[in-house]
Amino acid sequence: MEKSSNSVAAIFAGFGCTWKNLVLLVITATVILFITRIHQSKQLLQIENPLRLHGHGSGKQTLQLSEHTDLARMHNIDVNSENSNLTVISSFKKDPMLQLNKSQIFNGLEQAEHHHQEKESTGNNRSALPKKCRRHTNVVFLKTHKTGSETTSQIFMRFADINNLSIVLPKSRWPIMGWPGAFGKNHYIHPPEETKFNILCLHCIYNRHAIDKLMEHGAKYVTILRDPWHQFTSAFNFFKWEKIIEKEIGKTTTNHLEKFLENPGRFYKWEKDNAHAYLRNYMSFDLGLPPAQYDDMNAIIEYVNIIDNDFDLVMILEYYDESLILLRRLLCWKLEDILYIPNNIKRKITPAQPHAEQLYHHFSQADYYLYQHFTAIFKQRLNDSSGLLKEVAYFQKINTEFTRYCKRVSKNSSLILQIDRSNWNDFFSLDESYCTKSRLYIPDYMSILKKQRYGIATEKPTQKLWPID
Ligand SMILES: *[C@@H]1O[C@H](CO)[C@@H](O)[C@H](O)[C@H]1NC(C)=O
Ligand SMILES: *[C@@H]1O[C@H](CO)[C@@H](O)[C@H](O)[C@H]1NC(C)=O
Ligand SMILES: *[C@@H]1O[C@H](CO)[C@@H](O)[C@H](O)[C@H]1NC(C)=O
Ligand SMILES: *[C@@H]1O[C@H](CO)[C@@H](O)[C@H](O)[C@H]1NC(C)=O
Ligand SMILES: *[C@@H]1O[C@H](CO)[C@@H](O)[C@H](O)[C@H]1NC(C)=O
Ligand SMILES: *[C@@H]1O[C@H](CO)[C@@H](O)[C@H](O)[C@H]1NC(C)=O
Repeated sequence: MEKSSNSVAAIFAGFGCTWKNLVLLVITATVILFITRIHQSKQLLQIENPLRLHGHGSGKQTLQLSEHTDLARMHNIDVNSENSNLTVISSFKKDPMLQLNKSQIFNGLEQAEHHHQEKESTGNNRSALPKKCRRHTNVVFLKTHKTGSETTSQIFMRFADINNLSIVLPKSRWPIMGWPGAFGKNHYIHPPEETKFNILCLHCIYNRHAIDKLMEHGAKYVTILRDPWHQFTSAFNFFKWEKIIEKEIGKTTTNHLEKFLENPGRFYKWEKDNAHAYLRNYMSFDLGLPPAQYDDMNAIIEYVNIIDNDFDLVMILEYYDESLILLRRLLCWKLEDILYIPNNIKRKITPAQPHAEQLYHHFSQADYYLYQHFTAIFKQRLNDSSGLLKEVAYFQKINTEFTRYCKRVSKNSSLILQIDRSNWNDFFSLDESYCTKSRLYIPDYMSILKKQRYGIATEKPTQKLWPID
Protein backbone atom coordinates (compact mmCIF):
# COMPACT_ATOMS: atom_id res chain seq x y z
CA MET A 1 0.00 0.00 0.00
CA GLU A 2 2.70 2.44 1.01
CA LYS A 3 4.65 1.65 -2.12
CA SER A 4 1.64 2.39 -4.29
CA SER A 5 1.08 5.77 -2.69
CA ASN A 6 4.75 6.59 -3.22
CA SER A 7 4.47 5.75 -6.89
CA VAL A 8 1.39 7.94 -7.18
CA ALA A 9 3.40 10.75 -5.66
CA ALA A 10 6.19 10.07 -8.15
CA ILE A 11 3.75 10.23 -11.06
CA PHE A 12 2.44 13.56 -9.80
CA ALA A 13 5.95 14.91 -9.38
CA GLY A 14 7.25 13.70 -12.75
CA PHE A 15 4.53 15.06 -15.06
CA GLY A 16 3.33 18.46 -16.01
CA CYS A 17 -0.42 18.86 -16.30
CA THR A 18 -1.32 18.29 -19.95
CA TRP A 19 -4.29 16.46 -21.55
CA LYS A 20 -2.25 13.37 -22.35
CA ASN A 21 -0.82 13.24 -18.88
CA LEU A 22 -4.23 13.48 -17.32
CA VAL A 23 -5.45 10.44 -19.27
CA LEU A 24 -2.29 8.58 -18.27
CA LEU A 25 -2.86 9.53 -14.66
CA VAL A 26 -6.42 8.20 -14.68
CA ILE A 27 -5.29 4.91 -16.25
CA THR A 28 -2.48 4.52 -13.72
CA ALA A 29 -4.77 5.25 -10.77
CA THR A 30 -7.29 2.69 -12.02
CA VAL A 31 -4.58 0.02 -12.33
CA ILE A 32 -3.29 0.78 -8.82
CA LEU A 33 -6.78 0.62 -7.36
CA PHE A 34 -7.38 -2.71 -9.10
CA ILE A 35 -4.15 -4.19 -7.75
CA THR A 36 -4.90 -2.95 -4.24
CA ARG A 37 -8.33 -4.56 -4.35
CA ILE A 38 -6.93 -7.93 -5.38
CA HIS A 39 -4.37 -7.65 -2.63
CA GLN A 40 -7.07 -6.89 -0.06
CA SER A 41 -9.39 -9.70 -1.07
CA LYS A 42 -6.44 -12.12 -0.96
CA GLN A 43 -5.82 -11.08 2.63
CA LEU A 44 -9.48 -11.64 3.40
CA LEU A 45 -9.38 -15.12 1.86
CA GLN A 46 -6.30 -15.98 3.82
CA ILE A 47 -8.09 -15.20 7.03
CA GLU A 48 -11.34 -16.78 6.01
CA ASN A 49 -10.03 -20.13 4.82
CA PRO A 50 -8.59 -21.53 8.04
CA LEU A 51 -11.76 -20.49 9.80
CA ARG A 52 -13.97 -22.25 7.32
CA LEU A 53 -11.83 -25.38 7.60
CA HIS A 54 -12.05 -25.15 11.33
CA GLY A 55 -15.75 -24.66 11.13
CA HIS A 56 -16.20 -27.70 9.01
CA GLY A 57 -14.57 -29.88 11.57
CA SER A 58 -10.84 -29.80 10.90
CA GLY A 59 -10.45 -29.04 14.58
CA LYS A 60 -7.51 -26.79 13.92
CA GLN A 61 -7.74 -23.59 15.90
CA THR A 62 -5.71 -21.19 13.83
CA LEU A 63 -6.96 -17.81 14.99
CA GLN A 64 -6.77 -16.00 18.27
CA LEU A 65 -9.89 -14.46 19.76
CA SER A 66 -8.78 -10.98 18.74
CA GLU A 67 -8.53 -12.15 15.16
CA HIS A 68 -12.02 -13.59 15.28
CA THR A 69 -13.12 -10.24 16.55
CA ASP A 70 -11.38 -8.44 13.71
CA LEU A 71 -12.82 -10.85 11.21
CA ALA A 72 -16.28 -10.31 12.56
CA ARG A 73 -15.85 -6.56 12.33
CA MET A 74 -14.65 -6.90 8.75
CA HIS A 75 -17.91 -8.66 8.04
CA ASN A 76 -19.68 -5.76 9.59
CA ILE A 77 -20.83 -7.86 12.50
CA ASP A 78 -20.53 -6.18 15.87
CA VAL A 79 -19.00 -8.26 18.59
CA ASN A 80 -18.06 -7.87 22.21
CA SER A 81 -15.28 -10.11 23.41
CA GLU A 82 -14.90 -10.77 27.09
CA ASN A 83 -12.44 -13.29 28.48
CA SER A 84 -12.78 -16.27 26.20
CA ASN A 85 -16.33 -15.48 25.11
CA LEU A 86 -17.51 -13.60 22.10
CA THR A 87 -20.91 -12.03 21.94
CA VAL A 88 -22.12 -11.55 18.41
CA ILE A 89 -24.46 -8.68 18.01
CA SER A 90 -26.80 -8.57 15.07
CA SER A 91 -25.66 -5.68 12.96
CA PHE A 92 -29.29 -5.07 12.21
CA LYS A 93 -30.66 -4.57 15.67
CA LYS A 94 -27.61 -4.50 17.88
CA ASP A 95 -29.05 -7.10 20.14
CA PRO A 96 -27.01 -9.82 21.70
CA MET A 97 -27.93 -12.73 19.47
CA LEU A 98 -25.61 -15.46 20.50
CA GLN A 99 -23.51 -16.10 23.53
CA LEU A 100 -20.60 -18.14 22.31
CA ASN A 101 -17.57 -19.76 23.83
CA LYS A 102 -14.41 -20.33 21.88
CA SER A 103 -15.41 -23.61 20.33
CA GLN A 104 -18.68 -22.14 19.14
CA ILE A 105 -17.21 -19.02 17.64
CA PHE A 106 -17.09 -20.09 14.06
CA ASN A 107 -20.63 -21.44 13.91
CA GLY A 108 -21.77 -18.33 15.63
CA LEU A 109 -20.05 -16.08 13.16
CA GLU A 110 -21.43 -17.98 10.23
CA GLN A 111 -24.92 -17.91 11.67
CA ALA A 112 -24.65 -14.24 12.43
CA GLU A 113 -23.39 -13.57 8.95
CA HIS A 114 -26.20 -15.59 7.49
CA HIS A 115 -28.64 -13.70 9.65
CA HIS A 116 -27.07 -10.46 8.47
CA GLN A 117 -27.38 -11.40 4.82
CA GLU A 118 -30.93 -12.55 5.26
CA LYS A 119 -31.87 -9.17 6.65
CA GLU A 120 -30.16 -7.48 3.75
CA SER A 121 -31.80 -9.68 1.16
CA THR A 122 -35.29 -9.16 2.54
CA GLY A 123 -34.44 -5.50 2.87
CA ASN A 124 -36.46 -4.60 -0.19
CA ASN A 125 -39.85 -5.21 1.31
CA ARG A 126 -38.67 -5.07 4.86
CA SER A 127 -39.63 -1.47 4.99
CA ALA A 128 -40.34 -1.80 8.69
CA LEU A 129 -36.93 -0.57 9.65
CA PRO A 130 -34.48 1.60 7.80
CA LYS A 131 -31.33 -0.15 6.54
CA LYS A 132 -28.98 1.41 9.03
CA CYS A 133 -31.15 0.93 12.06
CA ARG A 134 -29.48 1.49 15.42
CA ARG A 135 -31.41 0.80 18.57
CA HIS A 136 -31.88 3.89 20.72
CA THR A 137 -31.91 3.36 24.45
CA ASN A 138 -31.87 6.99 25.53
CA VAL A 139 -35.39 8.32 25.44
CA VAL A 140 -37.44 11.01 27.12
CA PHE A 141 -41.15 10.32 27.14
CA LEU A 142 -42.75 13.54 28.32
CA LYS A 143 -45.85 12.22 30.04
CA THR A 144 -48.92 14.39 29.45
CA HIS A 145 -52.17 14.06 31.41
CA LYS A 146 -55.26 12.11 30.41
CA THR A 147 -53.79 11.13 27.07
CA GLY A 148 -53.11 7.42 27.40
CA SER A 149 -49.63 8.24 28.59
CA GLU A 150 -49.93 5.68 31.39
CA THR A 151 -49.90 2.83 28.89
CA THR A 152 -46.98 4.36 27.03
CA SER A 153 -45.05 4.94 30.26
CA GLN A 154 -45.50 1.29 31.05
CA ILE A 155 -43.82 0.38 27.76
CA PHE A 156 -40.82 2.56 28.62
CA MET A 157 -40.60 1.33 32.20
CA ARG A 158 -40.70 -2.30 31.08
CA PHE A 159 -38.04 -1.59 28.46
CA ALA A 160 -35.76 0.03 31.04
CA ASP A 161 -36.38 -2.83 33.46
CA ILE A 162 -35.75 -5.65 31.00
CA ASN A 163 -32.71 -4.02 29.44
CA ASN A 164 -31.29 -2.88 32.77
CA LEU A 165 -31.27 0.75 31.66
CA SER A 166 -31.08 3.59 34.10
CA ILE A 167 -34.42 5.28 34.57
CA VAL A 168 -35.44 8.42 36.41
CA LEU A 169 -37.43 7.38 39.48
CA PRO A 170 -39.26 10.02 41.48
CA LYS A 171 -38.97 10.54 45.21
CA SER A 172 -42.77 10.57 45.17
CA ARG A 173 -44.81 7.40 45.01
CA TRP A 174 -46.54 8.87 41.96
CA PRO A 175 -44.99 9.12 38.51
CA ILE A 176 -44.38 12.85 38.84
CA MET A 177 -41.17 14.86 39.07
CA GLY A 178 -41.87 18.26 40.54
CA TRP A 179 -45.13 18.61 38.63
CA PRO A 180 -47.01 21.00 38.55
CA GLY A 181 -43.94 23.07 39.40
CA ALA A 182 -40.50 22.91 37.86
CA PHE A 183 -38.46 19.92 38.93
CA GLY A 184 -35.34 20.15 41.02
CA LYS A 185 -32.66 17.88 42.42
CA ASN A 186 -34.82 16.74 45.33
CA HIS A 187 -37.58 15.36 43.12
CA TYR A 188 -35.81 12.28 41.81
CA ILE A 189 -33.56 9.55 43.17
CA HIS A 190 -29.91 10.13 42.39
CA PRO A 191 -27.83 7.19 41.20
CA PRO A 192 -24.77 6.51 43.38
CA GLU A 193 -22.26 8.08 41.01
CA GLU A 194 -24.57 10.71 39.59
CA THR A 195 -24.52 8.91 36.27
CA LYS A 196 -26.86 10.11 33.56
CA PHE A 197 -30.16 8.44 32.77
CA ASN A 198 -31.27 6.42 29.75
CA ILE A 199 -35.02 6.69 30.22
CA LEU A 200 -37.35 9.33 31.60
CA CYS A 201 -41.11 8.70 31.47
CA LEU A 202 -42.63 10.82 34.23
CA HIS A 203 -44.97 13.75 34.48
CA CYS A 204 -42.83 16.85 34.59
CA ILE A 205 -43.14 20.28 33.07
CA TYR A 206 -41.17 20.20 29.85
CA ASN A 207 -37.90 22.08 30.13
CA ARG A 208 -35.42 21.00 27.50
CA HIS A 209 -32.37 22.40 29.20
CA ALA A 210 -33.09 20.86 32.60
CA ILE A 211 -34.04 17.46 31.14
CA ASP A 212 -31.02 17.32 28.85
CA LYS A 213 -28.79 17.70 31.90
CA LEU A 214 -30.29 14.54 33.41
CA MET A 215 -30.07 12.41 30.32
CA GLU A 216 -27.39 10.49 28.48
CA HIS A 217 -26.27 12.26 25.34
CA GLY A 218 -28.52 12.24 22.29
CA ALA A 219 -31.80 11.22 23.91
CA LYS A 220 -34.82 11.06 21.64
CA TYR A 221 -37.80 13.12 22.75
CA VAL A 222 -41.29 11.71 22.51
CA THR A 223 -44.69 12.78 23.84
CA ILE A 224 -48.36 12.06 23.24
CA LEU A 225 -51.40 14.27 22.59
CA ARG A 226 -55.09 13.59 22.45
CA ASP A 227 -58.14 15.30 20.98
CA PRO A 228 -58.43 18.25 23.41
CA TRP A 229 -62.17 17.79 23.89
CA HIS A 230 -61.78 14.18 24.97
CA GLN A 231 -58.75 15.07 27.02
CA PHE A 232 -60.78 17.78 28.75
CA THR A 233 -63.82 15.62 29.50
CA SER A 234 -61.53 12.89 30.78
CA ALA A 235 -59.81 15.31 33.16
CA PHE A 236 -63.21 16.79 34.11
CA ASN A 237 -64.47 13.37 35.15
CA PHE A 238 -61.22 12.30 36.75
CA PHE A 239 -61.10 15.30 39.04
CA LYS A 240 -64.82 14.90 39.84
CA TRP A 241 -65.83 18.34 38.65
CA GLU A 242 -69.50 17.42 38.74
CA LYS A 243 -69.33 17.70 42.50
CA ILE A 244 -67.49 21.01 42.43
CA ILE A 245 -70.05 22.46 39.99
CA GLU A 246 -73.02 21.25 42.04
CA LYS A 247 -71.51 22.60 45.21
CA GLU A 248 -70.95 25.99 43.59
CA ILE A 249 -74.42 26.34 42.05
CA GLY A 250 -76.13 24.75 45.04
CA LYS A 251 -78.23 22.19 43.17
CA THR A 252 -77.91 19.01 41.11
CA THR A 253 -77.67 19.29 37.34
CA THR A 254 -77.06 17.06 34.34
CA ASN A 255 -75.26 19.72 32.30
CA HIS A 256 -72.04 20.03 34.26
CA LEU A 257 -69.85 20.60 31.23
CA GLU A 258 -72.08 23.35 29.86
CA LYS A 259 -72.39 25.00 33.24
CA PHE A 260 -68.64 25.02 33.57
CA LEU A 261 -67.85 26.20 30.04
CA GLU A 262 -70.46 28.95 29.97
CA ASN A 263 -68.66 30.64 32.84
CA PRO A 264 -65.37 28.97 33.67
CA GLY A 265 -64.19 31.91 35.76
CA ARG A 266 -66.89 31.16 38.27
CA PHE A 267 -65.49 27.72 39.00
CA TYR A 268 -62.00 27.81 37.75
CA LYS A 269 -59.61 29.47 40.15
CA TRP A 270 -56.15 29.28 38.71
CA GLU A 271 -54.62 30.74 41.88
CA LYS A 272 -55.78 27.74 43.87
CA ASP A 273 -53.00 25.86 42.15
CA ASN A 274 -54.25 22.39 42.88
CA ALA A 275 -54.81 19.56 40.48
CA HIS A 276 -58.46 20.51 40.13
CA ALA A 277 -57.40 23.61 38.33
CA TYR A 278 -55.90 21.92 35.30
CA LEU A 279 -58.71 22.10 32.84
CA ARG A 280 -57.36 24.75 30.56
CA ASN A 281 -54.65 24.01 27.98
CA TYR A 282 -53.69 21.06 30.09
CA MET A 283 -51.43 19.47 27.47
CA SER A 284 -49.73 22.76 26.62
CA PHE A 285 -49.20 23.27 30.33
CA ASP A 286 -47.42 19.91 30.59
CA LEU A 287 -45.33 20.83 27.57
CA GLY A 288 -44.18 23.98 29.30
CA LEU A 289 -46.29 26.77 27.81
CA PRO A 290 -46.45 29.47 30.52
CA PRO A 291 -50.10 30.10 31.53
CA ALA A 292 -49.46 33.85 31.12
CA GLN A 293 -49.36 33.18 27.36
CA TYR A 294 -52.67 31.33 27.10
CA ASP A 295 -54.35 34.32 25.46
CA ASP A 296 -51.47 35.28 23.19
CA MET A 297 -51.88 33.41 19.91
CA ASN A 298 -48.51 34.55 18.55
CA ALA A 299 -46.72 33.25 21.63
CA ILE A 300 -48.64 29.98 21.29
CA ILE A 301 -47.60 29.56 17.66
CA GLU A 302 -44.01 30.32 18.54
CA TYR A 303 -44.10 27.85 21.39
CA VAL A 304 -45.58 25.05 19.29
CA ASN A 305 -42.79 25.59 16.77
CA ILE A 306 -40.25 25.09 19.54
CA ILE A 307 -41.93 21.84 20.56
CA ASP A 308 -41.97 20.81 16.92
CA ASN A 309 -38.22 21.37 16.70
CA ASP A 310 -37.43 19.67 19.97
CA PHE A 311 -39.46 16.48 19.71
CA ASP A 312 -38.61 13.53 17.53
CA LEU A 313 -42.10 12.10 17.70
CA VAL A 314 -45.43 13.39 18.93
CA MET A 315 -47.77 10.43 19.27
CA ILE A 316 -51.51 10.86 18.86
CA LEU A 317 -53.84 8.80 21.06
CA GLU A 318 -56.48 8.61 18.31
CA TYR A 319 -53.84 6.76 16.26
CA TYR A 320 -52.32 4.85 19.09
CA ASP A 321 -51.10 1.73 17.30
CA GLU A 322 -49.82 3.77 14.38
CA SER A 323 -47.99 5.93 16.93
CA LEU A 324 -46.35 2.88 18.47
CA ILE A 325 -45.16 1.67 15.09
CA LEU A 326 -43.67 5.09 14.36
CA LEU A 327 -42.08 4.95 17.80
CA ARG A 328 -40.59 1.54 17.14
CA ARG A 329 -39.25 2.69 13.79
CA LEU A 330 -37.79 5.82 15.32
CA LEU A 331 -36.07 3.93 18.13
CA CYS A 332 -35.36 0.78 16.15
CA TRP A 333 -37.00 -1.35 18.81
CA LYS A 334 -38.31 -4.86 18.42
CA LEU A 335 -41.96 -5.68 17.99
CA GLU A 336 -42.16 -7.24 21.45
CA ASP A 337 -40.88 -4.00 22.97
CA ILE A 338 -44.10 -2.16 22.12
CA LEU A 339 -46.66 -4.81 23.07
CA TYR A 340 -49.13 -3.43 25.59
CA ILE A 341 -52.17 -4.16 27.69
CA PRO A 342 -54.35 -1.08 27.41
CA ASN A 343 -54.69 0.34 30.90
CA ASN A 344 -56.34 3.40 32.30
CA ILE A 345 -57.60 4.36 28.85
CA LYS A 346 -61.17 5.18 29.77
CA ARG A 347 -63.22 5.60 26.66
CA LYS A 348 -66.22 6.90 28.53
CA ILE A 349 -68.11 9.39 26.37
CA THR A 350 -69.44 12.34 28.28
CA PRO A 351 -72.64 13.61 26.66
CA ALA A 352 -72.58 17.33 25.97
CA GLN A 353 -74.44 19.87 23.90
CA PRO A 354 -72.88 20.83 20.56
CA HIS A 355 -71.92 24.33 21.62
CA ALA A 356 -69.94 23.01 24.57
CA GLU A 357 -66.98 21.99 22.48
CA GLN A 358 -66.98 25.37 20.74
CA LEU A 359 -66.78 27.02 24.12
CA TYR A 360 -63.94 24.77 25.16
CA HIS A 361 -62.10 25.47 21.93
CA HIS A 362 -62.22 29.15 22.74
CA PHE A 363 -61.13 28.52 26.34
CA SER A 364 -58.23 26.18 25.47
CA GLN A 365 -57.00 27.59 22.18
CA ALA A 366 -53.39 26.59 22.86
CA ASP A 367 -54.30 22.91 23.18
CA TYR A 368 -56.36 23.03 20.00
CA TYR A 369 -53.58 24.70 18.07
CA LEU A 370 -51.06 22.22 19.52
CA TYR A 371 -53.20 19.22 18.68
CA GLN A 372 -54.11 20.38 15.19
CA HIS A 373 -50.48 21.17 14.38
CA PHE A 374 -49.20 17.76 15.45
CA THR A 375 -52.11 15.78 14.05
CA ALA A 376 -51.42 17.28 10.64
CA ILE A 377 -47.74 16.36 10.94
CA PHE A 378 -48.65 12.90 12.15
CA LYS A 379 -50.96 12.26 9.21
CA GLN A 380 -48.27 13.44 6.85
CA ARG A 381 -45.86 11.02 8.50
CA LEU A 382 -48.34 8.17 8.20
CA ASN A 383 -48.72 8.89 4.53
CA ASP A 384 -44.97 9.10 4.02
CA SER A 385 -44.10 5.90 5.88
CA SER A 386 -44.05 3.00 3.46
CA GLY A 387 -45.59 -0.25 4.57
CA LEU A 388 -46.87 1.27 7.78
CA LEU A 389 -50.47 0.11 7.55
CA LYS A 390 -49.43 -3.49 6.96
CA GLU A 391 -47.15 -3.34 9.91
CA VAL A 392 -49.87 -1.79 12.09
CA ALA A 393 -52.31 -4.54 11.12
CA TYR A 394 -49.74 -7.19 11.94
CA PHE A 395 -48.89 -5.54 15.24
CA GLN A 396 -52.56 -5.38 16.20
CA LYS A 397 -52.93 -9.07 15.51
CA ILE A 398 -49.91 -9.93 17.65
CA ASN A 399 -50.96 -7.54 20.40
CA THR A 400 -54.36 -9.21 20.55
CA GLU A 401 -52.61 -12.57 20.84
CA PHE A 402 -50.44 -11.13 23.58
CA THR A 403 -53.45 -9.77 25.49
CA ARG A 404 -55.24 -13.12 25.24
CA TYR A 405 -52.10 -14.88 26.35
CA CYS A 406 -51.79 -12.64 29.41
CA LYS A 407 -55.35 -13.52 30.35
CA ARG A 408 -54.61 -17.23 30.05
CA VAL A 409 -51.25 -17.12 31.78
CA SER A 410 -52.83 -15.48 34.80
CA LYS A 411 -54.59 -18.82 35.32
CA ASN A 412 -51.69 -21.08 34.33
CA SER A 413 -48.30 -19.53 34.86
CA SER A 414 -46.38 -22.18 32.95
CA LEU A 415 -47.80 -21.17 29.57
CA ILE A 416 -45.40 -19.62 27.06
CA LEU A 417 -46.28 -17.35 24.12
CA GLN A 418 -44.31 -18.00 20.95
CA ILE A 419 -44.47 -15.70 17.97
CA ASP A 420 -43.08 -16.81 14.64
CA ARG A 421 -40.72 -14.81 12.53
CA SER A 422 -42.35 -12.37 10.14
CA ASN A 423 -41.37 -9.45 7.98
CA TRP A 424 -41.34 -7.34 11.10
CA ASN A 425 -39.89 -9.55 13.79
CA ASP A 426 -37.65 -12.46 14.57
CA PHE A 427 -39.04 -15.42 16.43
CA PHE A 428 -39.62 -14.58 20.06
CA SER A 429 -41.20 -16.12 23.10
CA LEU A 430 -42.61 -14.50 26.20
CA ASP A 431 -43.51 -15.82 29.62
CA GLU A 432 -45.68 -14.75 32.53
CA SER A 433 -43.20 -12.15 33.74
CA TYR A 434 -43.64 -10.15 30.54
CA CYS A 435 -47.36 -9.93 31.21
CA THR A 436 -46.77 -8.90 34.80
CA LYS A 437 -44.39 -6.15 33.72
CA SER A 438 -46.99 -5.00 31.22
CA ARG A 439 -49.77 -4.82 33.81
CA LEU A 440 -48.13 -3.64 37.01
CA TYR A 441 -49.72 -0.54 38.44
CA ILE A 442 -47.06 2.13 37.74
CA PRO A 443 -46.54 3.28 41.37
CA ASP A 444 -45.97 -0.35 42.34
CA TYR A 445 -43.64 -0.93 39.42
CA MET A 446 -41.62 2.10 40.46
CA SER A 447 -41.48 0.83 44.05
CA ILE A 448 -40.11 -2.48 42.81
CA LEU A 449 -37.46 -0.71 40.73
CA LYS A 450 -36.52 1.56 43.63
CA LYS A 451 -35.95 -1.51 45.80
CA GLN A 452 -34.08 -3.34 43.07
CA ARG A 453 -31.90 -0.47 41.93
CA TYR A 454 -31.31 1.49 45.11
CA GLY A 455 -32.37 -0.80 47.94
CA ILE A 456 -35.05 1.70 48.93
CA ALA A 457 -37.84 0.06 50.89
CA THR A 458 -41.24 0.38 49.25
CA GLU A 459 -44.03 2.27 50.89
CA LYS A 460 -46.65 -0.22 49.77
CA PRO A 461 -45.57 -3.70 48.80
CA THR A 462 -48.80 -4.40 46.91
CA GLN A 463 -48.39 -5.56 43.35
CA LYS A 464 -51.60 -4.44 41.78
CA LEU A 465 -52.11 -5.52 38.17
CA TRP A 466 -54.25 -3.68 35.67
CA PRO A 467 -57.27 -5.74 34.71
CA ILE A 468 -57.49 -7.09 31.17
CA ASP A 469 -60.73 -6.10 29.42
C1 LIG B 1 -18.04 -17.37 29.34
O1 LIG B 1 -18.75 -18.57 29.07
C2 LIG B 1 -18.69 -19.51 30.14
C3 LIG B 1 -19.36 -20.78 29.65
O2 LIG B 1 -20.43 -20.49 28.78
C4 LIG B 1 -19.36 -18.90 31.37
O3 LIG B 1 -19.32 -19.80 32.45
C5 LIG B 1 -18.64 -17.62 31.74
O4 LIG B 1 -19.31 -16.98 32.81
C6 LIG B 1 -18.61 -16.67 30.56
N1 LIG B 1 -17.82 -15.50 30.88
C7 LIG B 1 -18.26 -14.27 30.69
C8 LIG B 1 -17.32 -13.20 31.06
O5 LIG B 1 -19.35 -14.03 30.20
C1 LIG C 1 -18.71 -24.51 24.65
O1 LIG C 1 -19.90 -24.86 24.00
C2 LIG C 1 -20.00 -26.21 23.65
C3 LIG C 1 -21.25 -26.41 22.85
O2 LIG C 1 -22.36 -25.82 23.46
C4 LIG C 1 -19.99 -27.03 24.95
O3 LIG C 1 -20.06 -28.41 24.63
C5 LIG C 1 -18.71 -26.76 25.72
O4 LIG C 1 -18.74 -27.42 26.96
C6 LIG C 1 -18.55 -25.26 25.96
N1 LIG C 1 -17.25 -24.99 26.53
C7 LIG C 1 -17.08 -24.21 27.61
C8 LIG C 1 -15.67 -24.00 28.05
O5 LIG C 1 -18.01 -23.68 28.20
C1 LIG D 1 -41.63 -9.82 0.68
O1 LIG D 1 -40.99 -10.33 -0.48
C2 LIG D 1 -41.12 -11.73 -0.64
C3 LIG D 1 -40.31 -12.15 -1.85
O2 LIG D 1 -40.27 -11.15 -2.83
C4 LIG D 1 -42.61 -12.09 -0.79
O3 LIG D 1 -42.76 -13.48 -0.90
C5 LIG D 1 -43.34 -11.59 0.44
O4 LIG D 1 -44.74 -11.84 0.31
C6 LIG D 1 -43.12 -10.11 0.65
N1 LIG D 1 -43.75 -9.70 1.88
C7 LIG D 1 -44.50 -8.61 1.97
C8 LIG D 1 -45.09 -8.35 3.30
O5 LIG D 1 -44.69 -7.85 1.04
C1 LIG E 1 -27.41 -3.43 35.55
O1 LIG E 1 -26.74 -2.19 35.43
C2 LIG E 1 -26.00 -1.84 36.60
C3 LIG E 1 -25.48 -0.44 36.39
O2 LIG E 1 -25.01 -0.24 35.10
C4 LIG E 1 -24.91 -2.87 36.82
O3 LIG E 1 -24.18 -2.55 37.97
C5 LIG E 1 -25.56 -4.25 36.99
O4 LIG E 1 -24.56 -5.23 37.09
C6 LIG E 1 -26.44 -4.57 35.81
N1 LIG E 1 -27.18 -5.79 36.07
C7 LIG E 1 -27.35 -6.76 35.18
C8 LIG E 1 -28.15 -7.93 35.61
O5 LIG E 1 -26.89 -6.67 34.04
C1 LIG F 1 -49.24 10.83 0.30
O1 LIG F 1 -48.16 10.11 -0.27
C2 LIG F 1 -48.21 9.99 -1.66
C3 LIG F 1 -47.09 9.10 -2.14
O2 LIG F 1 -46.20 8.77 -1.13
C4 LIG F 1 -48.12 11.38 -2.29
O3 LIG F 1 -48.21 11.29 -3.68
C5 LIG F 1 -49.26 12.24 -1.75
O4 LIG F 1 -49.15 13.55 -2.23
C6 LIG F 1 -49.27 12.25 -0.24
N1 LIG F 1 -50.43 12.94 0.26
C7 LIG F 1 -50.36 13.88 1.17
C8 LIG F 1 -51.64 14.49 1.59
O5 LIG F 1 -49.29 14.24 1.63
C1 LIG G 1 -50.66 -25.37 32.31
O1 LIG G 1 -49.97 -25.30 31.07
C2 LIG G 1 -49.05 -26.37 30.89
C3 LIG G 1 -48.24 -26.08 29.62
O2 LIG G 1 -49.10 -25.91 28.52
C4 LIG G 1 -49.81 -27.66 30.84
O3 LIG G 1 -48.89 -28.73 30.67
C5 LIG G 1 -50.57 -27.84 32.14
O4 LIG G 1 -51.37 -28.99 32.08
C6 LIG G 1 -51.46 -26.65 32.41
N1 LIG G 1 -52.04 -26.73 33.73
C7 LIG G 1 -53.34 -26.59 33.94
C8 LIG G 1 -53.78 -26.72 35.34
O5 LIG G 1 -54.14 -26.36 33.04
